[in-house]
Amino acid sequence: MSDLFHSLSLFLPLLLLFPFFFFISIAAQSNDTNFPGCFSYRCANINISYPFWRMDSETPTQYCGYEGFGINCSNNGEEDVPIAYLGDDSYYVHNISYNPKWIALVDYDVSPVVPSVRCPRVRHNIDLGDLPFNFLGQNVNLSFHFNCTGVPSFAHEIRCLSTPTNKSFVHSLYEEPPNVNWTEYSCLEEVETTVFDVFGSTTTLENGFPGALSKGFELRWGRTEDCEKCEDSGGRCGYNRNTTEHMCFCSGGKTTTGHCNGTFVKTPRFKLNSTSTPVF
Ligand SMILES: *[C@@H]1O[C@H](CO)[C@@H](O)[C@H](O)[C@H]1NC(C)=O
Ligand SMILES: *[C@@H]1O[C@H](CO)[C@@H](O)[C@H](O)[C@H]1NC(C)=O
Ligand SMILES: *[C@@H]1O[C@H](CO)[C@@H](O)[C@H](O)[C@H]1NC(C)=O
Ligand SMILES: *[C@@H]1O[C@H](CO)[C@@H](O)[C@H](O)[C@H]1NC(C)=O
Ligand SMILES: *[C@@H]1O[C@H](CO)[C@@H](O)[C@H](O)[C@H]1NC(C)=O
Ligand SMILES: *[C@@H]1O[C@H](CO)[C@@H](O)[C@H](O)[C@H]1NC(C)=O
Ligand SMILES: *[C@@H]1O[C@H](CO)[C@@H](O)[C@H](O)[C@H]1NC(C)=O
Ligand SMILES: *[C@@H]1O[C@H](CO)[C@@H](O)[C@H](O)[C@H]1NC(C)=O
Ligand SMILES: *[C@@H]1O[C@H](CO)[C@@H](O)[C@H](O)[C@H]1NC(C)=O
Ligand SMILES: *[C@@H]1O[C@H](CO)[C@@H](O)[C@H](O)[C@H]1NC(C)=O
Ligand SMILES: *[C@@H]1O[C@H](CO)[C@@H](O)[C@H](O)[C@H]1NC(C)=O
Repeated sequence: MSDLFHSLSLFLPLLLLFPFFFFISIAAQSNDTNFPGCFSYRCANINISYPFWRMDSETPTQYCGYEGFGINCSNNGEEDVPIAYLGDDSYYVHNISYNPKWIALVDYDVSPVVPSVRCPRVRHNIDLGDLPFNFLGQNVNLSFHFNCTGVPSFAHEIRCLSTPTNKSFVHSLYEEPPNVNWTEYSCLEEVETTVFDVFGSTTTLENGFPGALSKGFELRWGRTEDCEKCEDSGGRCGYNRNTTEHMCFCSGGKTTTGHCNGTFVKTPRFKLNSTSTPVF
């Protein structure tokens, strides 16, 4: 009798702590036996763990992670290079933090792994599409114009990309006066991108933009709607490319029913536009 009471008194606090353990195990960054089929990887000095997944892993037909969160770890001859994709565009993965949740990305074209940092040339806007990302931190939007007939007074000429007749320039959206008549400059191309606001009294936009581009930007991530039921039931979301079915990886195995067996633990819906970290 006292034995039963003793084991109960040991067990009860554990039971009360269960929701706490549940979230710790979600955040853990290793191959978790609670989720067979879900793996962690290391690429250069980056941890690739759920909800990110490694594209070139050993199970190309199935992944445990969010759609669009695949990371390509390819070797460029010198080092492993982690690459994430937003739309069709490649981004060098500079860092990932799982708690709080953010990923630091650098447009691949202007990243440290391509040798053009002295005269960086962005080629596309940042296209977040339907992915559950939003910008984090103190950012500034830079607007680039290429092959123009002139340079407006509020903008900064990029000399290494200009010729006497074809000008390229950059400006921040803060600098742009209202009602600019862009047809006056007949530019061939325009690209807008977002970077950390590293500009201050000592770093001007004119000489600081290459450094800002190479530092990139941070995104925080939320979760996709079709994933909520699976995660709230203690599982991890995934996808089977063979059958194009959404998967839920549970301690008892994977399922296509959308959620694991057992009790639901309702977690608050991640607020994408709030800057505070979610409290569990
Ligand atoms: C990556 O994960 C390992 C264990 O899986 C941990 O020791 C290390 O601190 C993590 N690194 C980062 C940058 O989060
Ligand atoms: C996880 O498992 C995969 C595949 O077995 C292995 O390649 C990887 O190194 C493991 N990761 C960790 C952090 O143990
Ligand atoms: C996908 O299909 C291939 C070939 O039909 C099969 O070998 C593999 O096991 C399937 N993978 C999954 C996850 O269903
Ligand atoms: C990963 O990147 C390399 C180099 O850019 C590319 O050749 C390969 O096709 C990519 N793999 C996937 C799965 O996208
Ligand atoms: C990644 O971010 C963490 C937390 O901010 C930091 O401690 C670590 O040094 C960063 N790693 C790299 C490679 O920048
Ligand atoms: C800056 O650009 C991002 C996309 O790159 C966009 O979501 C955001 O609204 C822009 N901010 C301003 C102030 O234009
Ligand atoms: C200007 O346009 C020409 C012709 O389309 C192109 O080859 C060149 O790369 C462009 N220059 C810049 C800086 O975009
Ligand atoms: C300069 O710009 C014109 C269009 O404005 C373009 O046709 C031409 O190819 C460009 N020349 C160079 C050298 O970039
Ligand atoms: C913009 O500039 C072009 C060329 O200089 C001119 O033809 C046009 O009338 C201007 N548009 C406006 C709204 O001022
Ligand atoms: C859910 O429970 C059923 C019946 O006990 C079992 O057959 C199935 O494997 C379980 N599924 C998961 C994902 O745990
Ligand atoms: C978050 O977005 C909602 C609308 O989607 C808006 O009403 C609310 O003010 C935003 N909150 C913050 C902190 O930006």
